[in-house]
This record gives sequence, structure tokens and C-alpha cells, in this order.
Amino acid sequence: MADPYYITTAIHYPNGKPHIGHAYETIAADVMARFQRLQGREVRFQTGTDEHGLKMAQKARDLGVTPRELADEMSGYFRALFDKLDISYDRFIRTTEDEHHRASQAIWQAMEANGDLYLDRYEGWYSIRDEAYYDESELTDGEGGEKLSPQGTPVEWTVEESWFFRLSKYQDPLLALYRGNPDFIQPDSRRNEVVRFVEGGLRDLSVSRTSFDWGVKVPGHEDHVMYVWVDALTNYITGLGYPDQTEMMAKFWPADLHLIGKDIVRFHAVYWPAFLMSAGIAVPKKVYGHGFLLNRGQKESKSLGNVTDPAELADRFGVDPLRYFLLREFSFGQDGSYSQEAIVNRNNAELANSFGNLAQRVLSMIYKNLKGRLERVEATEQDINLIATVADACRTELPRAFEKLAFSEGIEAWMRAVYACNQYVDEQAPWALRKTDPERMKVVLYTLFLVIRDLAIAIQPVIPQKAGALLDQLGVTAEQRSYADLEDVDWYLRLVDSGFSLDKPEGLFPRLELPEEERT
Ligand code: MF3
Repeated sequence: MADPYYITTAIHYPNGKPHIGHAYETIAADVMARFQRLQGREVRFQTGTDEHGLKMAQKARDLGVTPRELADEMSGYFRALFDKLDISYDRFIRTTEDEHHRASQAIWQAMEANGDLYLDRYEGWYSIRDEAYYDESELTDGEGGEKLSPQGTPVEWTVEESWFFRLSKYQDPLLALYRGNPDFIQPDSRRNEVVRFVEGGLRDLSVSRTSFDWGVKVPGHEDHVMYVWVDALTNYITGLGYPDQTEMMAKFWPADLHLIGKDIVRFHAVYWPAFLMSAGIAVPKKVYGHGFLLNRGQKESKSLGNVTDPAELADRFGVDPLRYFLLREFSFGQDGSYSQEAIVNRNNAELANSFGNLAQRVLSMIYKNLKGRLERVEATEQDINLIATVADACRTELPRAFEKLAFSEGIEAWMRAVYACNQYVDEQAPWALRKTDPERMKVVLYTLFLVIRDLAIAIQPVIPQKAGALLDQLGVTAEQRSYADLEDVDWYLRLVDSGFSLDKPEGLFPRLELPEEERT
């Protein structure tokens, strides 16, 4: 059995309904989780909601509900969205769970026992929207002369008694960590930002608040609640049973990958490893900060009225076309601009007209001309060349790209193989061979049957429902769909010998249309 694999998304503030960015990150993590499972690894995949902090408390106050009520309602929307999008999470964590409070208090006590926590007075800037402290030097002036965070959010001057974490003590250990593990922060642009930030010197971090009480209580000082990021980050080990020495901790920690947005790399690549080092816990293997999605070039916001509900997009276009689009269209580390038109175009050009059409044409011909039956045939050089091209894309290029989170690159390699298949169909013209050379027609159609199976196996992480339905049609059993099965070249012969015959194929990749009101 290959190594276990632990992947997490950021956990999301349930202060409103989920937006497209949440769907994007979680789908990407799901593709990675499914990909690793198909590589034979035992995967644990965690996502969830980050329910404490001032932002949640304020939002609840504005709405006239308790923070708990707000969290319960909105967390439900996140979970329902992820279920709709076929997210194969193993654990959906909510930071209001008792287990999580216990884990957060335990890591706190471990840091305290290491002499890294002390009581002092915080005086400085805080952004509620980011739940982040900023140094004066990081701020910019807004249009009305007000101070803004580097993320462009409002900051307020805060003076409070607070516990501090000796972050300054970890400057050198952190720099050593980055140096020793050049892949710890990805992509490289993010890594460079973090290294520069840490080289610039670290101040101790305020890690508790007394002015509100919506959070995890500081052990022994119940008038303090923990800074929300201290408890939030701890979610990654709560889900494995920390502080107990569980089998899961032994198996899955340190995490293989924290997948997060580029705006919260500092928390994951600076604060989190420092907390862990202080508590004597191993640091994660990799933090990846992905890019943002823009709606026709603009950030979605209520004031612009351009907020898209990802659940609605999934209903309108289908879950798999949406998943495919999000990973295919953008370079994962960079920002990207999307529109409904782009979703439709991408689906129609690639899934419907290219892959779907290939499968439907070939299976229909086998069904009609050969009564759905398969036979052993002798392949010629051109057939073997096509098989080799597809095998290379499915076994080597796509996995190599996915392993480094270059999803678009991997899907593009897959698509090139699909194009090669369509070109082969056009050149071989099996419909003409039916009359002129029926034996050759068989070889062509069975060659295509073979490669369609490879293509379907390889693309499962991205479009699990559709690829699964296609593999069902092809008679590939659920136990024979991993990447290792791509190496099993005898599967076809076994299928032939089993007497399998194709049912009338159902088209799986319909063309999409843009709704009337979206056409420009
Ligand atoms: N809720 C935070 C945000 O949306 C992310 C928390 S990720 C965690 O910015 F790991 F810290 F939990």
C-alpha cells in the first residue's frame, strides 16, 4: 500500500452563503483527493467551517441572531454545497464542536508549557474582515484618508490586555524550514513573499481577546478567548483526534497538503508551523496558495450585484461540467476570470464535441454494426501508435501534472489525446470500412474502445459522475478503475472472454446553452 495522504482545504467563515471561490478551492482539493485514491493511497480529506471570531460575532449581531444560530444555518449551506458538488470529504469539521475546543486548549497548553505564551497589552491595528493584525508599516491610506489593510479592508485601532505568542523566537527556525524544504510553500511567488516577510523580522503575536467571548476559552483564564486563527488552524489536527495519540495522528500527520487561497498563506506558512514547533508537533509537508476567481474580471461583491451562487451554476450546467471548467480553464496558482459563457464554451468544445462525441460515435458503431460484441483482434502499427499516445497522456502526463497541482496542464494533455483519437476516427473512417473492409473496421472500433477506457479512467478525479457512467457502459468494474489498472493490458481480453456486450449507449455529455438572459 502506498503512503497515506492527508489533504485539507481552508475552513470557511460561515458568515454568509458560500461563493464561487469556496467551490473552486474545495473542488480542486477533491480532485486531488480522488486522484491520490486512484493512485492507491489511503486518503483523508478534511474541510469544514471556521465559526469563531469577531467577524462572526458582529455579523450575527447585525442580523439579530446569536453567533451559534448564524453558524448553524450557514455551515449547513457549505455542507450542502459540497455534497452537491460531489466533494468526497472524510470529515467536515465545525470549530464549535467540543472536540475542537479540547484540541485548541491542548495545543495552547503545549505552547504555554514551552514558555512561548505571556500576558501583555496589545496596542495596534486589527482588521475584522481579515481577522488579522497588521503592522502600521503594512497599511495604506484609503480614499477618505482612512487606514486600509494590505487586502484593502478597514482596520481599527485596538488596545487590549492579551496573551502573546513568542513568534519572534521562531524566525530562524522558520527560515531554516523554508530553506530545507523548498517546496514547503507553493507556488514559488508565494514562497518568495513569505520568505521576505519573515526575513523582515517577526513580532510576537497577540493570540487572545477579552473584548468579546465568541471563541475558545483560554485555559485557566476564562475571561480570554483565543485569537480565532489559533483555534482555526488547529482544526487540521482536531480532525485526526489530537491531543490523543490516535492511530489517525500517527498515520496522517503531518499533512501532505494544506490547500488554501493566496491571501492566507501567511497564517499557514508562518504562524501555523511556529505554533506546531512550539507545541512539539511536526509541521505540514506543503502549503499551496491558489489564485482567485474573478467574475468577468471583477471581484464578486454584494455591492456590485455580481455574486454567483455556485449551487445555481451546478444546477444550471451540471456538476461535472462545472468541475471540469474550473480546473481546466485556469492556471491553478494564478487568478482567473470566469463567465457563464466561458463555462458553456469549454463544455461544448471539449466535453461535448470532443470527448463525448468520440465515445458516443464509437460505442454506437460497436452497438449497431457489431451487435455490441467485442472480439480479439490483431492491431496494426497505426492502432498501436494511438494506444501509445493515449497511454502516455493517461499514465504519465496527466498524473505528473496533477501531482504538482498543475490541473489545467494535466487536463490539456488528456484533451490532446482525445483530439488524437478523433483524428484517428476521421482518418480510418470506420463507417466506410463497414462495406469495404469489415475486418479492419473491427480493429479500428476495438482500438477505440480500448483507448476510451483509458481516457475515462484518467479523467475520473475531475468528472467523477460522467467518467463513472462511461466506465459502466464499457463494462469496466468498480475494482478496475485505478491508475494502476491502466497498466493492465489484459483487461480487454478478459472482458472479451467474459462474453460482455455493450448496451445501447447513452450520450453522457450534452451540449449546453447559455440562458437567454446571459446572452450578450
Ligand atoms: N476562515 C479563514 C478564511 O476564510 C480560513 C481559516 S483556515 C484555517 O480566511 F486553517 F485556519 F482554519
